[in-house]
Amino acid sequence: MDGKLVSTWYNLHSSVPESYVQPAERQPCNAVLSTIKTIPVIDLGGHDRDDIIRNIVKSSEEYGFFQVVNHGVAKELMDDTLRIFKEFHAMPANEKLIESSKDPNGSCKLYTSSGRNCADVAKYWKDSLRHPCPPSGEFTEYWPEKPEGYREIVGKYTQELRALGLRILDLISEGLGLSPNYFSEELSANPVLISHNYPPCPEPSLTLGASSHKDPNILTILFQEPNITALQVLKDGAWIPVEPIPNAFVVNMGLMLQIITNGRLIGAEHRVITNSSPNRHTIAYFINPKKDAIIGPAKPLASSTSQAIYPSMPFGELLENFMNKGPYFEAEFRL
Ligand code: OGA
Ligand code: NI
Repeated sequence: MDGKLVSTWYNLHSSVPESYVQPAERQPCNAVLSTIKTIPVIDLGGHDRDDIIRNIVKSSEEYGFFQVVNHGVAKELMDDTLRIFKEFHAMPANEKLIESSKDPNGSCKLYTSSGRNCADVAKYWKDSLRHPCPPSGEFTEYWPEKPEGYREIVGKYTQELRALGLRILDLISEGLGLSPNYFSEELSANPVLISHNYPPCPEPSLTLGASSHKDPNILTILFQEPNITALQVLKDGAWIPVEPIPNAFVVNMGLMLQIITNGRLIGAEHRVITNSSPNRHTIAYFINPKKDAIIGPAKPLASSTSQAIYPSMPFGELLENFMNKGPYFEAEFRL
């Protein structure tokens, strides 16, 4: 079943195949759970702008994660988008493959596990659909055309998520003393959307849906299907569950934002566990820089009083280092 989507065969087994069994130290049954039961929730509809900024900065410093409510994205659009992706993953495998292989250069793709099967110690219990979603509309011609309405609904959703992401980044900029629109040009020019499908798993205690990782980008906005808790955030060596709040988004800092803020905001480690039922869907919107954008500590945050702890280099180069070195990258990267 190498390379085959988990969704095509998961229900044929009463135990997980050996290749999906994680090493003991990573198995959820051996995890240290945090005494902190939840990550901060921020009401973006509140009237006290300074208070919102303070809360965002504090949560980003302490957790690297928070949820937002009253964010302005319409519930109908969120429902429609979730429905489209659930329908997509429920289509027959050959149809999913056709709909996700329209670009000969592979900008849009459907993959299983991490998509990097060679390097992984064990496989991950998920299938994912990934494609760029830049504001220019470039690449839209390669997006799936099924389920019906895909391009229209996902196009609208990614526009709204871009606006929300830039709004949050502006609040962060203001809170940290960076110039307004610091992130609105080349640092956010290459957004990517990933729709994850985590099928039911017969042995959740032994498997993972996604590895413990930091997102290698600026900021991620995640829409989780309600009612199923599976995302966990690492804080002080222990895991905090991120319980879905209806119509909320989960926001997390990427490693690039950690570097730009000279380590002040943290790109926290997180992972996904599996559940014995039912299917879980999430939609991740990644704010990514252009390949040649220089990533390094912002001047106001790395001065004579707090020296730069990271070097500066083009995003593309940084990403390559990150992909090759994985978890050891960060320690080696610090100056
Ligand atoms: C990711 C991620 C979490 C989830 O896509 O980087 O961490 O619950 N997703 O799907
Ligand atoms: Ni992630």
